[in-house]
Amino acid sequence: MSASFVHRFEPATAGDLPPVLLLHGTGGDENDLVPLGHTVAPGAALLSPRGQVLEHGMPRFFRRLAEGVFDEDDVRRRALELADFVADARGRYGLGAPVALGYSNGANIAAALLLLRPQALAGAILLRAMVPLSDPPRADLAGKPVLIVSGAQDPIALPDNAARLADMLRQAGAAVEHRVLPGGHPLSKADLTLARSWWHDHASSAENAIAAQ
Ligand code: MLT
Repeated sequence: MSASFVHRFEPATAGDLPPVLLLHGTGGDENDLVPLGHTVAPGAALLSPRGQVLEHGMPRFFRRLAEGVFDEDDVRRRALELADFVADARGRYGLGAPVALGYSNGANIAAALLLLRPQALAGAILLRAMVPLSDPPRADLAGKPVLIVSGAQDPIALPDNAARLADMLRQAGAAVEHRVLPGGHPLSKADLTLARSWWHDHASSAENAIAAQ
């Protein structure tokens, strides 16, 4: 494989569902979001890489200069490496384009992937996401379904910042739903309920997005 991401792969147990690309938060690993993936997208194949950047020993998907201040050159480079990994994994495991399910830093790299390599993803669920790039290239996300879920009291991924991301993705043609839940940066049961119901409603349109590619 072109980029050597440590990863976990769980094959599908049901047919006709897009696979899910699980992207963990800072300090997580490839195992973290597997239970979430099974809950949100029962039966779908799960592809779960570990971020390759270490911040004080904690895996992440790209470097940051400070809390909420991203090294955008690194964001670009790492997002493209992740896109290459996804392309290789699709060939190796026989997968369609995945829907990303990312939390925090994982949601931010998923947003970067959408903006930089739109064809890498069929859609995305972005939990506690922020704008990853201040001046992204023009992307074509026509018809791609995206759910963004923010926490109203989140001091890290501010809902206003996520609203800017939602606008950015909408301008590129994505069908974005942005929901703001009570609570902060950690996930709650309400996140799971929202994500699961969005998946239920959109997994087939994600399949259509794949078919259109
Ligand atoms: C990031 O660095 O991607 C965000 O600040 C979220 C985090 O990982 O804390």
